[in-house]
Amino acid sequence: MFIRFALAAFLALPATAVAEQLLADFEGADYSGWTASGTAFGTAPARGTWPNQQHVGGFRGNGFVNSYLGGDGATGTLTSPEFTVSQRFLNFLVGGGAHEGQTCVNVLVGGQVVRSAPGRDDEFLNMATLDLGDFTGKTARLQIVDSATGGWGHINADHFVLSDRAATPPITKRAVDTSRLYDETHRPQFHFTAQQGWHNDPNGLVFFAGEYHLFFQHNPYGREWGNMTWGHAVSPDMVHWQQLDHALWPDRTGTMFSGSAVVDRNNTASFQTGKEPALVALYTAAGGTSEESKGQPFTQCLAYSNDRGRTWTKYAGNPVVPNVGDGDRDPKVFWHAPTKRWVMPLYVGEKDPVKKDAKGNPTTRHVCHFYTSPDLKVWSFASQFAEELYECPGFFELPVDGRKRDSRWVLFGASGDYWLGRFDGREFKAETAKLKGNYGANAYAAQAWDDLPDGRIVYLDWMQGGKYPGMPFNQQMGVPLELSLQTTPDGIRLVKWPAKELGSLIANAESVTVPTAAGRHELPAAAKELLDVELEFIPGTAETVTLELRGQKLVWNAKAGELTAFGRKLPLRPAARSLGRHTEKPWNGSVRLRVLLDRTSLELFGNGGVTMASFCFIPAVDPGAALTIESGSLAKARLTARTLKSAWVK
Ligand code: FRU
Repeated sequence: MFIRFALAAFLALPATAVAEQLLADFEGADYSGWTASGTAFGTAPARGTWPNQQHVGGFRGNGFVNSYLGGDGATGTLTSPEFTVSQRFLNFLVGGGAHEGQTCVNVLVGGQVVRSAPGRDDEFLNMATLDLGDFTGKTARLQIVDSATGGWGHINADHFVLSDRAATPPITKRAVDTSRLYDETHRPQFHFTAQQGWHNDPNGLVFFAGEYHLFFQHNPYGREWGNMTWGHAVSPDMVHWQQLDHALWPDRTGTMFSGSAVVDRNNTASFQTGKEPALVALYTAAGGTSEESKGQPFTQCLAYSNDRGRTWTKYAGNPVVPNVGDGDRDPKVFWHAPTKRWVMPLYVGEKDPVKKDAKGNPTTRHVCHFYTSPDLKVWSFASQFAEELYECPGFFELPVDGRKRDSRWVLFGASGDYWLGRFDGREFKAETAKLKGNYGANAYAAQAWDDLPDGRIVYLDWMQGGKYPGMPFNQQMGVPLELSLQTTPDGIRLVKWPAKELGSLIANAESVTVPTAAGRHELPAAAKELLDVELEFIPGTAETVTLELRGQKLVWNAKAGELTAFGRKLPLRPAARSLGRHTEKPWNGSVRLRVLLDRTSLELFGNGGVTMASFCFIPAVDPGAALTIESGSLAKARLTARTLKSAWVK
């Protein structure tokens, strides 16, 4: 719904007269007053593809700027004469490298870079727009920069026009000053956020050569959803992240929707060029979600990288799975060793064979198709799981109670709800009804690292729906969670527990014996901004127990056997000490609650992660903490408060 609305708003451009001024079209025999430095730009516009360059297309007329003249190694700048910013938007064509600040078109005002647009690791020149509204009437220059010497170390540009109409969604960002990022008022300190702009789903979670990769649905140009591009970050531990250049840019087949990435260890796709295996990303090209992909369908495509994910090449044979239904998307690919095949669960909207709407028209059901492939390029339909799952399927195998011989497959959708069952390499047969994955309000579209050397499955969700007023970024990820399957009194359940790597953030740990008598007890040890707190108690006669952190009340009700937080309910009953995970050996028959508190979020784990809830909120300024025991007392209680450090401070 949300995506459709945003799209419709973008495509509905008004049809009034356009005021335009052509600044440069590079059709002349020389650069017509532009000044070149270095060697990359030569002395005159290019007229096509240079030797050894992939085919260049998309420029207007015969001449354009192409800094591949001396190959990727050559560098230089090309600077325009001064002009007056007479219209709000600068529309132009840009291609070549996606190195921000290094292969880009800059707008200079007073000698400072005020706007910047890189290429997209694509030789084709795509339309781009910069919003110069802040500089109307000022004198400016354009500068085309090529200071990169490695892969995609060149820039293509053409046809600069000042206009009162944006030809594409404008790039609103200024050149990034990273020194000021990560300590803003509402910047989460141990949850991943993009430096700037909107992000949603985690994509392409893969571990390779000592690095955890996190790609993510990103809008490089604004704080709202749109222009979906794969952002990229790497980490040695899933906690400390470094954001890199974008990995996949929109193209004529669509914007880049969610997908996954794998290490092609056996070189099944033959993309490997050096000693190390290639990384291969399977993504959805969301046709029709941009001006340049109008009329195209949603398809599944692949791209590969031979430099540890730093640069990506889209496969010439794309798409690898054609459009099969309505909005097919979010391929999650993994290697199934017993059948020696790649397997791809894919979300597909298809006509419901039975259900009709109120007017008798067929309805759409949102299911999961399974495809298999020997080489990541050729895919065959294997089966479908026809339960309502909606977007972003996730699928992996886990031992039950740690016993290798007794395992189940877990299939989940974007809501986090899941089924447990068996999988033979082609078909998933559920053995449970749909089970609840998260009792909170802010967890969506998770994906898992499912190919880790230590065999763990680590899961990361998008904490959908948080608010970040005044921030350069919008949205945050959850913390990485280790998954396991455990037999509980209700049956086998998926247990989620903060990944052990978060332990590296502990600045101080304090164990407190908490009063058990009725009343309100201040908890100075938990009155902190960044916190990992564990409360354990053996109920007595108390009817309610309320843990208050940063102005939020987490209320446990003895009779109901549940905890209420932000108006939602999390099942939480006294349990055997063997239930769930723990950091300190639990008491038998206790209630256990772990809370991770960051600047704008709170994640709750009930009884060692057997139940979980995620919430985004902006805490009250007062960081006070208290425990209130009402209408009776507790038999026993203890609390451990771990103060956490920021993951962004080096
Ligand atoms: C889930 C989702 C995916 C899609 C992506 C687009 O949040 O809608 O299904 O691929 O976001 O950004």
